[in-house]
Amino acid sequence: MLVCRLWVPLAVLCILEVVCAASLPKSTASSTARQHSPRLSIPLLRHSYGRRDISEAESWLVSSRLALEAKYGLGSNSSKQKRANGSNLLTNHNADSSYSGYISVGTPPISYSVILDTGSSDLWLAAPGDTVPVGTSVFDSNRSSSFVPLNQSFSISYGSGSAGGILGRDIVRFSGFEVQDQVFGVVSEVTSKLLSGQISGVFGLAFQSIATSGAVPFWQSLVDQPGILDEPVMTFHLTRFTNSSHARSVQPGGTFTLGALNHTLFTGDIDYQNVSGTPSYWNLGVASVTVQGSPIDLSLGGTVAAVDTGTTLVGGPANVISELYQSIPGSSAGTGNLTGYYTYPCATEVSVSMSFGINDKAWPISPTDFQLVQLTDDTCVGAFFELQGSRSSSYPSWVIGDTFLKNVYTVFRASNPPAIGFGQLSNIALAQNDLNSSVPTPTFILPQVTVTAPISAAHRVSSNIPLYALFGGATLLYLFL
Ligand SMILES: *[C@@H]1O[C@H](CO)[C@@H](O)[C@H](O)[C@H]1NC(C)=O
Ligand SMILES: *[C@@H]1O[C@H](CO)[C@@H](O)[C@H](O)[C@H]1NC(C)=O
Ligand SMILES: *[C@@H]1O[C@H](CO)[C@@H](O)[C@H](O)[C@H]1NC(C)=O
Ligand SMILES: *[C@@H]1O[C@H](CO)[C@@H](O)[C@H](O)[C@H]1NC(C)=O
Ligand SMILES: *[C@@H]1O[C@H](CO)[C@@H](O)[C@H](O)[C@H]1NC(C)=O
Ligand SMILES: *[C@@H]1O[C@H](CO)[C@@H](O)[C@H](O)[C@H]1NC(C)=O
Ligand SMILES: *[C@@H]1O[C@H](CO)[C@@H](O)[C@H](O)[C@H]1NC(C)=O
Ligand SMILES: *[C@@H]1O[C@H](CO)[C@@H](O)[C@H](O)[C@H]1NC(C)=O
Ligand SMILES: *[C@@H]1O[C@H](CO)[C@@H](O)[C@H](O)[C@H]1NC(C)=O
Repeated sequence: MLVCRLWVPLAVLCILEVVCAASLPKSTASSTARQHSPRLSIPLLRHSYGRRDISEAESWLVSSRLALEAKYGLGSNSSKQKRANGSNLLTNHNADSSYSGYISVGTPPISYSVILDTGSSDLWLAAPGDTVPVGTSVFDSNRSSSFVPLNQSFSISYGSGSAGGILGRDIVRFSGFEVQDQVFGVVSEVTSKLLSGQISGVFGLAFQSIATSGAVPFWQSLVDQPGILDEPVMTFHLTRFTNSSHARSVQPGGTFTLGALNHTLFTGDIDYQNVSGTPSYWNLGVASVTVQGSPIDLSLGGTVAAVDTGTTLVGGPANVISELYQSIPGSSAGTGNLTGYYTYPCATEVSVSMSFGINDKAWPISPTDFQLVQLTDDTCVGAFFELQGSRSSSYPSWVIGDTFLKNVYTVFRASNPPAIGFGQLSNIALAQNDLNSSVPTPTFILPQVTVTAPISAAHRVSSNIPLYALFGGATLLYLFL
């Protein structure tokens, strides 16, 4: 959800709209059921041994276990199985509006720049089509010998637009890993402004239960098959160029890692909090929000927050956001195009911090990130805004986007139990907020590890459930300046 992009051509401001779809996420009830591929122990338990003697049964059990352990890299020789981790250098677009990484798709492999979005679970790429912006690097399925079209349409709606096409399967490679038979959307129709020339699609990194396509997301295929990743984690460090008047439309965006933490990018310990509820979005409970030293009363709205790299700003319940700005003298609610936003005097250095667990550290947001844009000499717009629309309780009440995430090293841990951790950025990480660094270019690295997407994905997409019925889930919020 919540691909929220923000284009800041430093002079002009025209916030057009902030829209949240009000529909329910598709079937929360069934989400648990198709969360994981079948447990390894099930085939053993179902086997019938008849009257064979116990040692024969035991020997069958042992050999079956060894075969499965070897297959999944679990056995005592598992050190010989190839576990791995990999990283991906990111690109920062339009002064912190969005962050992309490179994936490569198909045979021969071709690289595409995609938004890495922990707030959604589908991968889709632009395909040749009249409505795709000129200059976009498009996925032409006719040129990939490994592409398999699926007889299903794919459509995704955003607050201010939509994208549509078909579903297909192909080889996808990312950060040194390869998933064969990855199901993704091949989008030939997009409404204007959904893509910029430099971005070819969206790479969803949340859980399968909210995937519009029903497919197992790339990262989850790797996590669900033990022995693939060194650790079941994804991490982000995001750069900041929001207040650099000389920032180009693309700048270095930071570092993503899959399967390990990058210890050069943070100092001290990572502070983990369990994901709240059944994994769908990467949700955390907000424990406190402090503005200019005063705590805000969170009981005025819900406290479940999606931690979303694909959203630019921080959205929260209207009553709470309104109270937040009451702590900033001279602030007022925006009207017209600024509905949902607040203005405040630019001379005020606004310090906001947030914490997510009982004894959790409070993480400060830099005043630079809070100041979204300057309208006049003394009127600025804050980066916290009201999430609007009638929001069902199935949705998080808060969306914690890049405004917050630029200030921390973020770890998304998939299991034992699912959790999100934050750490203090190191000087090495902060040194990357440097206008002179070069922007990453696509480089094809042979994948270290290959897996096949779980069967469950193929079952789901070959079923006859119309996708528009599955699609209620994408609350996409699209905002442009
Ligand atoms: C581990 O490797 C050794 C020697 O390579 C072999 O004898 C043993 O059966 C293996 N164990 C498993 C569990 O595969
Ligand atoms: C792919 O090839 C088919 C059959 O030749 C053609 O109808 C279709 O337009 C082509 N698609 C693209 C994206 O070029
Ligand atoms: C594709 O799906 C449609 C509608 O479900 C069906 O009528 C058609 O036969 C399918 N085509 C193939 C090749 O499976
Ligand atoms: C990540 O991979 C590198 C080799 O590419 C290895 O040296 C390192 O130990 C791995 N990290 C973890 C946490 O396993
Ligand atoms: C850790 O991050 C730094 C800075 O982006 C990068 O140069 C380095 O390659 C990363 N290390 C690993 C093991 O990914
Ligand atoms: C997080 O989850 C684990 C395992 O379910 C549990 O033991 C632990 O108490 C939880 N932590 C908190 C702070 O709730
Ligand atoms: C809102 O933005 C649009 C597009 O830039 C502009 O035409 C319109 O005048 C603006 N409305 C207000 C009330 O500022
Ligand atoms: C933005 O940068 C200017 C010039 O470096 C500085 O004076 C100003 O305080 C900065 N604003 C924020 C909000 O950090
Ligand atoms: C960046 O490069 C410009 C010209 O190439 C130079 O004047 C400036 O000092 C450099 N800035 C930094 C922080 O290195």
